[in-house]
Amino acid sequence: MNEPKNNGNKRTWEVFAPGRINLIGEHIDYQGGWVLPGAISLGQWIKATEIDGPGIHLKSPLGTWTYTSAAQLCASNPQDKPSAFFKGIWSSFQKRHPLSSVGLEIEISGNLPLGAGLSASASLSAGLGQILHQVHNSPLSEEDLIQIAYETERAFVGTQCGHMDPYAVVKSKANHLLLLNNSDLSTQHIPCDLGPYQLVLFHTKVTHELSHSPYNERRAAVERAWDVLKPWGPKDAVIAALPYLPLEVLEQHRSKLSHADYPLARFTLDEQLRVENAVNAIKAKDYVTLGALMNQSHQGLSELYQVSCPELDTMVHWSQNQPGVLGARMMGGGFGGCTLNLIHQDQLADWTLDALETYRQAYDITGAVYRVDLSDGICAGQGGFMQC
Ligand code: GLA
Repeated sequence: MNEPKNNGNKRTWEVFAPGRINLIGEHIDYQGGWVLPGAISLGQWIKATEIDGPGIHLKSPLGTWTYTSAAQLCASNPQDKPSAFFKGIWSSFQKRHPLSSVGLEIEISGNLPLGAGLSASASLSAGLGQILHQVHNSPLSEEDLIQIAYETERAFVGTQCGHMDPYAVVKSKANHLLLLNNSDLSTQHIPCDLGPYQLVLFHTKVTHELSHSPYNERRAAVERAWDVLKPWGPKDAVIAALPYLPLEVLEQHRSKLSHADYPLARFTLDEQLRVENAVNAIKAKDYVTLGALMNQSHQGLSELYQVSCPELDTMVHWSQNQPGVLGARMMGGGFGGCTLNLIHQDQLADWTLDALETYRQAYDITGAVYRVDLSDGICAGQGGFMQC
């Protein structure tokens, strides 16, 4: 536990909460499948300062919110998305540990683009949960923190997401990917040495709100498919889920699924296998295979799962045909946000200029390029956030 800084008489607490990428394993976390995310160096800084009186004042580049106390925040009737979000975090924390009456001014800043598929909301909810944990010197575990972020997203924001984002934000390790098994929530840190290749994000600036996108519909459809196929699926409770159904069983019974649901189920099984193959490719330093898996993942997300959009497809297909690029795909929930590219370092400068120009010409939008450095998960500290 980090002791708070004593700033004059006022105690302060600080947290850095990163965003995340997902190398592969998209849209299968909420089905119990495997995913391979990692935290990145872009993120949000949260600083809490003790104030006189019991008020809670939240300040971010998006606005300011004031509550007379933590109790009032929990009892509030949210009028906007951020209020629902704050209520979610404070209420979920309170279910696990009593809230004190300490008054707080909380400042949120950072360099993580919003709506880019880099998990800005899980980063913020885990970051605020961590601040409350520090303020209360609570005995909460990393798993509690993950659960607070997860519950907030589902109950108060409305996205029926899986566990990937809060796990990546909280548990990642620098230079590693986090292999998360969503059936039993076990994790493994996979060392990620990409040799001369670099992961790079291209942000289309097409923003999405997953709670209003067909994200929840996709989830409902694969649950429906699993209900139909369950009788032929694995019986072991831990892996009784669609991603663990043998492919031949799906093919044998595909006529029992609707025309709309079969491609989603097929994508699920293919993507699960791709995660396993990607881990093996990383361990073997087989970057060509890794790139090919990323390309296949995009094709499945775009054509079978149908969570891409024209801007993502344009930039993925363009990138896949550039010199030095081994793989490219849309990343995250989809319907906008970023592409993830595996590029030889020697081609990085040319690729960046050409990507921005190609996108500008196609859509008259100035995109953004971010080099991915796999980083540590949430980091609590004082005076420079150095105590991860
Ligand atoms: C969003 C959700 C995650 C996951 C991805 C898609 O980021 O929050 O739980 O489902 O989409 O892989």
